[in-house]
Amino acid sequence: MKEKMFILATALVVAGSLSLAYAADIDNGKALFESPTFGGGTTGKTCKSCHPGGEGLSKDLFDCEKITIMGMEKNRVEEVVNVCIENPMGGSAIDTEGEEMQDLVAYMKTLVDKKAKKKTRRKIEGC
Ligand code: HEC
Repeated sequence: MKEKMFILATALVVAGSLSLAYAADIDNGKALFESPTFGGGTTGKTCKSCHPGGEGLSKDLFDCEKITIMGMEKNRVEEVVNVCIENPMGGSAIDTEGEEMQDLVAYMKTLVDKKAKKKTRRKIEGC
């Protein structure tokens, strides 16, 4: 009996911690997208300066397994974000698994979803 209670309690704790997994904060993602100091940016530019309303972000960006950006091959959107942080923003790459990255990507998804309603020609080489 005691053993069963222990198993049940363990199961509850595991289930509880799974539901506490980080939920991305879209508002924070928007703030980062519009911040010139995001990733230690030094050029005064923000993601929004070059991608207003998600411009230049393709709708299949989040599913791509190979993305070519500025002549470099990357496998995930997070790595592409770091290319833009390091080059046009003059900052340094952030943790691809970190909360800032998750927030930013979640916000970019909302931009791409809004844009998907309007049909735009794909300008950027990818996939
Ligand atoms: C000075 C302008 C500039 C800034 C600032 C900039 N980008 Fe970019 N970004 C570009 C250009 C240009 C490309 C396309 C490069 C290519 O295709 O080789 C691009 C491509 C991308 C792509 C790939 C899009 C696709 O569909 O292939 C992503 C994602 C992206 N940028 C995210 C960001 C994020 C996030 C920031 C802010 C941290 C940012 N960019 C800041 C100019 C900029």
